[in-house]
Amino acid sequence: MTILVTGGAGFIGSNFIHYMLENHYDYKLVCIDKLTYAGNLRNLEKVLGKSNFRFVKGDICDRELVNKIFEEESPDVVINFAAESHVDRSIENPDVFLMTNVLGTQVLLDASRKYGVKRFHQVSTDEVYGDLPLERRDLKFTEESPLKPSSPYSASKTAADLLVLAYHRTYGLPVTISRCSNNYGPYQFPEKLISLMIINAFNNKPLPVYGDGKNVRDWIHVKDHCEALNIILQKGKEGEVYNIGGNNERENIEIVKMILKELGKPEELIRFVKDRPGHDKRYAISTAKMEKEFGWHPKVDFEQGLRETINWYLENRDWWEEIINGEYMKYYERMYGERLK
Ligand code: NAD
Ligand code: TYD
Repeated sequence: MTILVTGGAGFIGSNFIHYMLENHYDYKLVCIDKLTYAGNLRNLEKVLGKSNFRFVKGDICDRELVNKIFEEESPDVVINFAAESHVDRSIENPDVFLMTNVLGTQVLLDASRKYGVKRFHQVSTDEVYGDLPLERRDLKFTEESPLKPSSPYSASKTAADLLVLAYHRTYGLPVTISRCSNNYGPYQFPEKLISLMIINAFNNKPLPVYGDGKNVRDWIHVKDHCEALNIILQKGKEGEVYNIGGNNERENIEIVKMILKELGKPEELIRFVKDRPGHDKRYAISTAKMEKEFGWHPKVDFEQGLRETINWYLENRDWWEEIINGEYMKYYERMYGERLK
């Protein structure tokens, strides 16, 4: 079994590669990643030398390169993580979000059609459903909830989902889609809430909380997400959408305070700042379908998972210091420039 993993040098993709290589020794994984600011080969350091792993630096929008990889590797399965993933950046500059998230997905779908795959899996997000009101805690997103994205990021992910489903209906491409809630864990680029707050708190820098801090997200450990993705690849039905959630709704401010407490830092570091435009109020995912069809449910306890994640950032200071010092690109050239030419 050969799996083409796109965006595998990012946060979730690299965790997925580690998870799969640890659990399926007989699989070959091929990763294509453009190594944008969010991609980091250090995330894959442990597997770069393995005989059943290949890394290709490249853009999923590059049709020629994508076709070449399909010709060389004949992947059975494609799992598409590659994306611009940060809402705030999409508000500043939507262009690259449409390029990668929509047109890049189309290139992958075309190649999957042309060369034939057993499965094309699209890694999507609960943000395609828009948001839920704070005062209706009884409501959760199901796979049937209407698509109502709020940000250029979520609109681009929604467009990609619709394209994936259209390729199934029109061309019979064997696709599945998963829509997951907010992930946390090792290797998360320090621009998302949890990773950023850990590092700022550690450095005694202000923690910027948008608005009143009462927006709610449903946090899932990346390990639980990877396990769910593997199950969908093995057992998911073609043409189906599966929601993946952590059953763990928290206000942003609660999380920020938990991080400060764990690090023994004062709450005076919290700064309430101007809100994000169009800021989604609340995300909450029903995991009923995953539970009913596969008996899957998230397993990592949040307090424990957050503590472990904080410890990972403490133990891997050089990983994030290189990023925040802007050193990573120099590191990349020094370490891998010649080797990957
Ligand atoms: P990330 O930003 O950490 O990683 C994205 C990776 O994609 C990077 O390695 C980057 O270099 C690569 N990439 C970007 N553009 C590319 C291109 N044109 N060609 C090839 N590679 C490219 O993102 P993440 O948090 O790991 O998210 C991965 C996927 O999961 C995304 O599709 C995202 O929409 C989805 N998702 C993320 C979350 C979350 O909480 N982080 C939740 C649900 C769904
Ligand atoms: P984020 O991690 O960017 O994920 P998303 O917007 O995709 O859910 O943000 C999670 C929540 O934290 C969201 O409500 C915005 C908020 N937030 C802050 O309050 N301050 C910050 O500096 C960041 C990055 C996010």
